[in-house]
Amino acid sequence: MKKIFIVTGARPNFMKAAPLIKEFKKNSNFNHVLVHTGQHYDKQMSECFFDDLGLPEPDIYLGVGSGTHGMQTGNIMIEFEKVCFSEKPDLILVVGDVNSTVACAIVAAKMFIPVGHIEAGLRSFDRTMPEEINRILTDQISDYLFTTCRDANRNLIEEGICAEKIHFVGNVMIDTLLSNIEKSNKSNILEKLKLKEKNKIRKYALLTLHRPSNVDKEEVLRGILKALKRISRELPVIFPAHPRTLKQIRKFKLEEMMSYCENISHCELNFPAHDILALPPLAYHDFQCLMSHAKIILTDSGGIQEETTILQVPCLTIRNNTERPVTITEGTNIMVGNDADRIINTALRVLKDGVKRKKMPEYWDGKAAVRIVEILNRSFYE
Ligand code: UD1
Repeated sequence: MKKIFIVTGARPNFMKAAPLIKEFKKNSNFNHVLVHTGQHYDKQMSECFFDDLGLPEPDIYLGVGSGTHGMQTGNIMIEFEKVCFSEKPDLILVVGDVNSTVACAIVAAKMFIPVGHIEAGLRSFDRTMPEEINRILTDQISDYLFTTCRDANRNLIEEGICAEKIHFVGNVMIDTLLSNIEKSNKSNILEKLKLKEKNKIRKYALLTLHRPSNVDKEEVLRGILKALKRISRELPVIFPAHPRTLKQIRKFKLEEMMSYCENISHCELNFPAHDILALPPLAYHDFQCLMSHAKIILTDSGGIQEETTILQVPCLTIRNNTERPVTITEGTNIMVGNDADRIINTALRVLKDGVKRKKMPEYWDGKAAVRIVEILNRSFYE
């Protein structure tokens, strides 16, 4: 039986690990071990995803926490190397593009442990993004590169990765979305926020923001929030805020641009509301439910661009580039950058005219994890 480490660390990793664990459980050829680096540690950034997604407690918790990039990546490497020495895994699987991904991939590659990268080949071609550095490095040292779209295969080939290592399997995050739709629809978040009364759902926009390029400079963050404030004259803007974003809002004294509700159960949203309502980060089902009923979503997240493509909700991405172009060509995604006028004008147009529904990206069908486990099974046992 082969021992496989599945590495998670930050919020967007947990929904990608869930379908893999489900598939590995069905296959007696593999003993899977769930590793959590502790990159994210707040209940709302970590534990509540384990609860919502029915994930088991991590088998190994490294407890690394926050820090500068060097410190966080280095600390993960130090702790992960220790468990690789003691546990001797046969393969490590890393997902996405966070610091935990690259840190564990480097450790494994140097110990001659094969590495599988799930969500390989995505490129924004913007090396000022820490995630882009993580993607490029992880792909260069991986043995199995599992991709979500054909453009990722092309990116990898152009970087000299040999074709035999590349496997187009689809999108594990969409596996999770599709298998949880029913549960997510049962969330009572709309009632809690008074967005649903007597079976009528009010129109609202949903906002998420956490990229350093959007939240670390005062004038940029102020400009984006100004645009959202204008949009909130049309419909309320619900804003589950990442802890780092909230910190920056407080640091730049921008709290007055919005209302903040610390406890969702006691939150008063009186309509007609012309405001941005900031909330703590939400758990998986609550957020999925809010996404699927939103009139428009504004975000700088990568994963949300993909989820809105499947949910067919208009998505305005507050960035100048995306590593997920398929969400524009086939989905509901529009790049708007961080210029306030452009954000406002595009949002008003989309609110009036909607966006054209296109098609579902190939293999975003809920079976990506099945394909990954099949490939590994063949590779190890045939
Ligand atoms: C990380 C990922 C990013 C991903 C995002 C999702 C990297 C380089 N970035 O960014 O790709 O989109 O997660 O959330 O890995 N903090 C808390 N509580 C937590 C975690 C973080 O308060 O549980 C605060 C800390 O102040 C920390 C800051 O958020 O310093 C940033 O956390 P970090 O893990 O460094 O990066 P994210 O911005 O979350």
